[in-house]
Amino acid sequence: MGYEVLDVRPATYRIGAEVGGIDLSAPLSNRQAAELRDALAEHQVLFFRDQLMDHESHKALGRLFGELAIHSGVPGLPDHPEVVAIHADENSKFVAGESWHSDLTADAAPPLGSILYMHTVPEYGGDTVFASMTAAYEALSPKMKAYLDGMSAVHDANHIYKALFPDVDKTYPCSTHPVVRTHPVTGKKSVFVNPSYTTHIVGVSRDESDAILGYLYRHCGNPNFQVRFRWRPNSVAFWDNRCTWHQAIWDYFPAVRSGYRVTIAGDKPF
Ligand code: SIN
Repeated sequence: MGYEVLDVRPATYRIGAEVGGIDLSAPLSNRQAAELRDALAEHQVLFFRDQLMDHESHKALGRLFGELAIHSGVPGLPDHPEVVAIHADENSKFVAGESWHSDLTADAAPPLGSILYMHTVPEYGGDTVFASMTAAYEALSPKMKAYLDGMSAVHDANHIYKALFPDVDKTYPCSTHPVVRTHPVTGKKSVFVNPSYTTHIVGVSRDESDAILGYLYRHCGNPNFQVRFRWRPNSVAFWDNRCTWHQAIWDYFPAVRSGYRVTIAGDKPF
């Protein structure tokens, strides 16, 4: 794809690109916004360095891609409910996103994507790993693709957030989505189950569901489909949540890692 105003450097053949030539805190031109959309569709996760974003510019960037979503599991900042703090330090008992997942897939319309801005990161460690579920789908055998065609799976947020926040009396979303979804922009198919939210495949026995999901998770976790992002202070990762998994690596305890995330509303998977 030709980029005129952005410097887009692929990180791997399948997923990820570092984008230069842009200040995300400034209002973006139509051309910059269009090229960002193209780059996200082409590379699935975009990385930016040396950005200084406040909450307003962070939200403005997200709004170029759609309405902002309010996180269904974690409260946002008091004055900016669309902005969620991502923070870990010596007092942390867990960190956000430690297992492979796509964001909030238990929502009826899971997010289009998320933009994570980290201002403080450990000297080393604390990477985020992303995996292309498009590449994972494309590498399935024709027989497995045919088997999965038309199947759906249940995604439930309750076991996750009730374990994290036992004192909060709340029922979290639970939804059924196709096991293979079609990307609304690229038309490409991708695997749309994940080990965090998906509880079972509909219409088969639990044994069969466990076996198929177990196979898919091993297959989707193949490093051939991954890119690993090494954060520096003031870096940004912007992922397309419709066709990727990600996992935050908590290997830096008790160091501090801190930033903010906005999430862009998505549509019902098909
Ligand atoms: C998340 O899952 O949104 C957190 C990712 C990270 O902290 O690297």
